[in-house]
Amino acid sequence: MQQILDAILAGDTAPEEFGHLDVPESYRAVTVHKDDAVMFEGIDSKDKDPRKSLHLDDVAVPELGPGEALVAVMASAINYNTVWTSIFEPVSTFGFLERYGRLSPLAKRHDLPYHVVGSDLAGVVLRTGPGVHLWQPGAEVVAHCLSVELEGPDGHNDTMLDPEQRIWGFETNFGGLAHLALVKANQLMPKPAHLTWEEAASPGLVNCTAYRQLVSKNGGDMKQGDNVLIWGASGGLGGFATQYALNGGATPVCVVSSDDKAEICRSMGAELIINRNEEGYRFWKDERTQDPKEWKRFGARIRELTGGEDIDIVFEHPGRETFGASVFVTRKGGTITTCASTSGYMHEYDNRYLWMNLKRIISSHFANYRESWEANRLIAKGKIHPTLSRTYALEDTGQAALDVHQNAHQGKVGVLCLAPEEGLGVRDAELRSQHVDAINRFRGV
Ligand SMILES: NC(=O)c1ccc[n+]([C@@H]2O[C@H](COP(=O)([O-])OP(=O)(O)OC[C@H]3O[C@@H](n4cnc5c(N)ncnc54)[C@H](OP(=O)(O)O)[C@@H]3O)[C@@H](O)[C@H]2O)c1
Repeated sequence: MQQILDAILAGDTAPEEFGHLDVPESYRAVTVHKDDAVMFEGIDSKDKDPRKSLHLDDVAVPELGPGEALVAVMASAINYNTVWTSIFEPVSTFGFLERYGRLSPLAKRHDLPYHVVGSDLAGVVLRTGPGVHLWQPGAEVVAHCLSVELEGPDGHNDTMLDPEQRIWGFETNFGGLAHLALVKANQLMPKPAHLTWEEAASPGLVNCTAYRQLVSKNGGDMKQGDNVLIWGASGGLGGFATQYALNGGATPVCVVSSDDKAEICRSMGAELIINRNEEGYRFWKDERTQDPKEWKRFGARIRELTGGEDIDIVFEHPGRETFGASVFVTRKGGTITTCASTSGYMHEYDNRYLWMNLKRIISSHFANYRESWEANRLIAKGKIHPTLSRTYALEDTGQAALDVHQNAHQGKVGVLCLAPEEGLGVRDAELRSQHVDAINRFRGV
């Protein structure tokens, strides 16, 4: 592995030389173990500790199949899906791997007693399987996390609709929190040249998700002038949703839980900010009963900020705790886009506010191939920026996931895989210098 790393760090290794480097038989990877799946039984979600379930193991390099690529991973990032995997909620991800394994002999490789996690990467292609021509060894890449088979017709218009759609590193094995990763070659995209490895690895999953959920016609189809309510506006998804709203001429109304987070939103250019802790919204009186008076107080606050207007698009992901309020504050004919349920997936809202006012709830999940490419292109052009706040070593991935689980982080949390230190991998210093403040906005907050 050292030879591979030396070749990458040299910066001037001819691309074809990467194809001749020996690939080791095993590699270091962050895993969860199948026989740990019951380890947190009876423990409250918030007390389940990813440091106990995430292991750093040496695992066998998988055989490379047709249409696939083996990538040397320089850096990766934590997504909430790694938190879900590590606390075995809402289900153990080994069920996903078993189901995938039944699909074909090739997919069977994924059904193992360990799961290499991680749905983001920046690195260098080492090997490509039969049928891959667009990507060659030596290419500096990032990978989006959409894994599809595309054999049936359902996904031919929108690859997210493929019946065999999976999130790589969550519903498949051989993810990005490791020294090597196995991806389908059509997940690969060019690494933005002005970013370091860890910066380039960090936007992937959340950037593509936010793009579809808010900008794409498959999601919110946002237009100039829209008022966009963004929950967790400085978080993983929200940090990108806020940038997309501002870039697209919309007005973000950012909801956050602290002054630090409010300050980050301001530094991105947002002006309308609600600190939900300071203003003490209690949308639920108890576990079963919501409080419409609190929805109204929240709606009144939004009107105060917007000069009397309501919300065109709600960027929803907290779920049960906020969904009733989200439906209430949306304007007549407006849209609630949802991609998650962090606080609980059994949502409750007053349907009278929805149907009488012709509001729409639109579900959104990751992004199709094209949307992913477009979202990465915006990063590569310096029009959307990474939101990396902090980087951990691969062996500290458990702590990194705990930070995200406890909402103790800002923006994105990165992980160095093969990269020995931060700051490496920049190939376009000039473009970087134009955007360096924006790139570092979330750093050390
Ligand atoms: N379907 C998909 O494709 C997809 C893709 C990415 C993520 N997700 C899911 O989306 C969710 C968020 O992911 P993320 O990466 O943005 O996570 P994140 O970095 O933890 O950010 C989420 C933010 O939401 C806010 N929040 C959390 N619980 C809340 C609550 N009960 N009420 C109001 N606000 C709350 C918090 O911000 P404040 O404390 O500042 O308010 C938190 O920082 C996760 O469940 C994740 O699994 C889904």
